[in-house]
Amino acid sequence: MRNILFITSSLMGERSKSSQVAAELVTTLRRAGVTGSVKERALTPENMPHLSLETLGALGVPADQRSAVQQSKVTFADSLIEELEGADVVVLAAPMYNFTIPTTLKAWLDHVARAGRTFRYNEKGQPIGLLKNKKVYAVVSRGGYYGGDDPVGAGEFQETYLRHMLRFIGLEDVTFIHIEGQAVGLEAAEKGVALARSEIKETVLAVAA
Ligand SMILES: Cc1cc2nc3c(=O)[nH]c(=O)nc-3n(C[C@H](O)[C@H](O)[C@H](O)COP(=O)(O)O)c2cc1C
Repeated sequence: MRNILFITSSLMGERSKSSQVAAELVTTLRRAGVTGSVKERALTPENMPHLSLETLGALGVPADQRSAVQQSKVTFADSLIEELEGADVVVLAAPMYNFTIPTTLKAWLDHVARAGRTFRYNEKGQPIGLLKNKKVYAVVSRGGYYGGDDPVGAGEFQETYLRHMLRFIGLEDVTFIHIEGQAVGLEAAEKGVALARSEIKETVLAVAA
């Protein structure tokens, strides 16, 4: 009875390839025996604010001294972390925007990376991730191709950044599913989605079993 947190971040709503393939992945996981709850969080610029000084400040105020506005900021930030803590499997859908992740997903990461809760520094100043025992599947879509020998040289700061940031908060077991060639033409786009689906069959089913 493992629980899934399903996060999408494309601006394209139901037309989003990363969201569609990630939804298929969730279905695949459920068929493979991940039968707990599924909590969906569709990040949009309307519902995912940037981390603000007001929120940072509110987090430092003792609970019984917070104003109503401060409390609502803390409640929102806490709810994002609680959703993450309550998940055994996280399915993350992220298009590449200007070589990296959408700003909504960055804002979500800014809210869930909290000292003492999801990470801490040891006495040597090294970061220790505090989230444990979670499997992450990240479905990343791109207009072009970034799978060569030198992804960073090619401008790949989406998977590279996500992998680093997730590890920082303790999410080390991450499987990436790639949807490439989405801006190259219809045929290439369809091939990119088909390849992602076969990655799900090969990788996800093997890991979920
Ligand atoms: C604002 C914006 C920026 C983009 N930047 C890049 C980019 O830097 N590199 C790239 O390969 N594709 C880029 N694309 C193309 C998307 O990554 C591609 O269409 C992807 O499939 C979108 O995922 P979605 O269908 O889940 O929305 C960009 C698209 C948009 C809308």
